[in-house]
Amino acid sequence: MYIISVLSRAFFSAFSHTKTKVKSQVDKVKLKEVTEIARYEDLKDKRAVITGGASGIGLATAKRFLKEGSKVIIIDVNKEALDKVLLDNPSLDGGVRADVSNLEDVSRAFKEVDKLMGGIDVLISNVGISLRRSFLETSYEEWNRVLSVNLDGMFLCAKEAIKRMKMQRSGVILFTASTNGIEGHPLYAAYNASKAGVILLAKTLALEFAPWLRVNAVCPGYVLTPMQKAEYTPEMMEEVNKTIPLRRHAKPEEVAALFAFLSSSEAEYITGQCIVIDGGETAGRYSVVKIQK
Ligand SMILES: NC(=O)c1ccc[n+]([C@@H]2O[C@H](COP(=O)([O-])OP(=O)(O)OC[C@H]3O[C@@H](n4cnc5c(N)ncnc54)[C@H](O)[C@@H]3O)[C@@H](O)[C@H]2O)c1
Repeated sequence: MYIISVLSRAFFSAFSHTKTKVKSQVDKVKLKEVTEIARYEDLKDKRAVITGGASGIGLATAKRFLKEGSKVIIIDVNKEALDKVLLDNPSLDGGVRADVSNLEDVSRAFKEVDKLMGGIDVLISNVGISLRRSFLETSYEEWNRVLSVNLDGMFLCAKEAIKRMKMQRSGVILFTASTNGIEGHPLYAAYNASKAGVILLAKTLALEFAPWLRVNAVCPGYVLTPMQKAEYTPEMMEEVNKTIPLRRHAKPEEVAALFAFLSSSEAEYITGQCIVIDGGETAGRYSVVKIQK
């Protein structure tokens, strides 16, 4: 299964993606239905900070929390994308340009959050970068960069958030990890190791700060974020989808829906967990099962 998926990843950029446009229009109609729903009364007026909120899962999550009536600030390193998101979503409480792997940036960003929202109730620590590289070709600099953005970034943001949440004795922190943090995937040593670290960071913080803080890691499998969508051809998409029991990628809005649920009071007995959303990808050896028609 993983050999196929890894091979597929290798060929993404080698194909054109004309037919993807047709599919993405279909997706848009369905996605709208998902994002229209606001379910959690208690998320209204909650102060949420979403890192990596200018794209993909983070952006979908920001929009979902706005739908729920939360106050939302996004933190992202990409100024251009950040400005566009702020323009497109005037109900956002703010956007802060910061590199989550930089101590000074993170400290400044949370001071800005204090100014704009007077504190924080929910942190969705979501930034992550991926590197597809054979282990022996991975340089120490590349290894460090992935670990520093994906894991140090979670450490730095969680620390700033918990300092504030501790004063009010309440809060929710959700990390975006990955199924790559649970199972090995060849050619992703740095990414996999960083995501495994994120899962154990979540579990540790959940124990250290219970009962007033809840901390969980969300582990998505394949998610069709705009960047990925642009890289796929219909053929590649089909190859990857064959390896997923539900036969499709997750929509970013589906991951956003999980974040909303886990932040709400309906999930107030859930902490210290790694919650997988992967269409069954990690349930077992799907590729060897003879499919019943
Ligand atoms: N897309 C998937 O299939 C998938 C699967 C599993 C897990 N994930 C995880 O979900 C998270 C979001 O992924 P996505 O696909 O939405 O990614 P994305 O690339 O669409 O968005 C990531 C955002 O993070 C920002 N960012 C990158 N480095 C940063 C830094 N140092 N400081 C601040 N912001 C930074 C980018 O500018 C971008 O806006 C990541 O942690 C990723 O590892 C994604």
